[in-house]
Amino acid sequence: MTGSTTVQINGKRLWNELESLAKIGALPGGGVCRLAFSKEDKQGRDYVEQRMRDLGLEVRIDPIGNILGVRAGTGDDRRLVLTGSHVDTVGTGGKYDGSLGVLAGLEVLQTLNEHQVQTHHSIGVAAFVNEEGVRFMPDMMGSLYVSGQLSLEEIEPIEGIDGKTIKECLEALDFSGRDDISNQPIDCFIELHIEQGPVLLDNDLDIGVVDRVQGILWEEIVLEGDSNHAGVTPMNRRRDAGYAASVIAAYVRILTEEIEGLRGTVGALTLFPNLINVIAKKATMTIDLRHAEKDRLIQARDLLHKKINAICDKEHVAPTIKTLADVDPVVFDAQCIQSVEKAAESLQYSSIRMISGAGHDAQIMASKWPASMIFIPSQDGISHNINEYSTPEHVEAGASVLLHALLEQARSIL
Ligand code: HGY
Ligand code: MN
Ligand code: MN
Repeated sequence: MTGSTTVQINGKRLWNELESLAKIGALPGGGVCRLAFSKEDKQGRDYVEQRMRDLGLEVRIDPIGNILGVRAGTGDDRRLVLTGSHVDTVGTGGKYDGSLGVLAGLEVLQTLNEHQVQTHHSIGVAAFVNEEGVRFMPDMMGSLYVSGQLSLEEIEPIEGIDGKTIKECLEALDFSGRDDISNQPIDCFIELHIEQGPVLLDNDLDIGVVDRVQGILWEEIVLEGDSNHAGVTPMNRRRDAGYAASVIAAYVRILTEEIEGLRGTVGALTLFPNLINVIAKKATMTIDLRHAEKDRLIQARDLLHKKINAICDKEHVAPTIKTLADVDPVVFDAQCIQSVEKAAESLQYSSIRMISGAGHDAQIMASKWPASMIFIPSQDGISHNINEYSTPEHVEAGASVLLHALLEQARSIL
């Protein structure tokens, strides 16, 4: 690994910022929990907003709480180069997922301030709300709103897994603003993120030049059977929602063996009444399917629905299927990819072009503006886990690549 001799980010300061933000929502055994639109999420956003104001950025907050800090460029065409990510986390989150992209963006702007570097275009750092989507679905909600794919009217009534609506949370937390994040022409969006998988470490590489992101399909399946006595009820007289759910969960794994490249996960499964000697009356489960090609995702969904109907007919259980998220795979913009690749090469970091297994705000922003991503390695390839870790050296490398890619896009005036 090497770095650059010109303008350089302050890796130690960025590392300390990651540690400070991780204190907000810190879990007793390590890790972080800042569920979207929670008190901890608001505290995390307040922390970021304060950093933006301390850096003298123009701060904009939109009606669902997306925050944008803008460092003005010299050009009067008001063009904006964007970076950023998210500060909400899953329930067993780590210190780097999302936070790295927001804090590294702010580190870049602080570095430009310190070195009095001017850029023709403005540079903005966004902290999108609810990227994770684990409390309120769909995920990437903040960038779906900014890119016009979800409206405020659609978002406010969405009910979370704890029964609260987003509207109630926005009001209770004083979370929303009146600004329009995208009220000036956006040139591109480049997001720095941890890989959350094993590819970079397995190949001993410093930087991932992300050129594509796989598609996502989230569904909630509710199965209504009937409760009855576990000991007395003959096997051929049951309407066992728990059994039907187990067959469906096992079939998701079989589908991934039948469709090359498909990833399938049953992350949540609850039975009612969930008692040892009572046949389950109701099962509620979530299904997460991912694939790089849309037609494979559709094929998987159709096969799954066929299986659900077949097992429910046989077990006399009634299924209800609800789509929670449906995000297309994307291929990023060639020029944006190149500026990341060139930045990594100029800094002499080893890099590889790769697909992202996880969904990201860049995937949504790419539907409207040129976008690309930068990955750094995740220790043991794990994430959405309290032991998520990336080294200070890789954090610094990722932020340095981000600095140089943004300088190229924003046309620095050196
Ligand atoms: O689910 C995802 O891929 C992202 O972490 N929201
Ligand atoms: Mn993320
Ligand atoms: Mn995540």
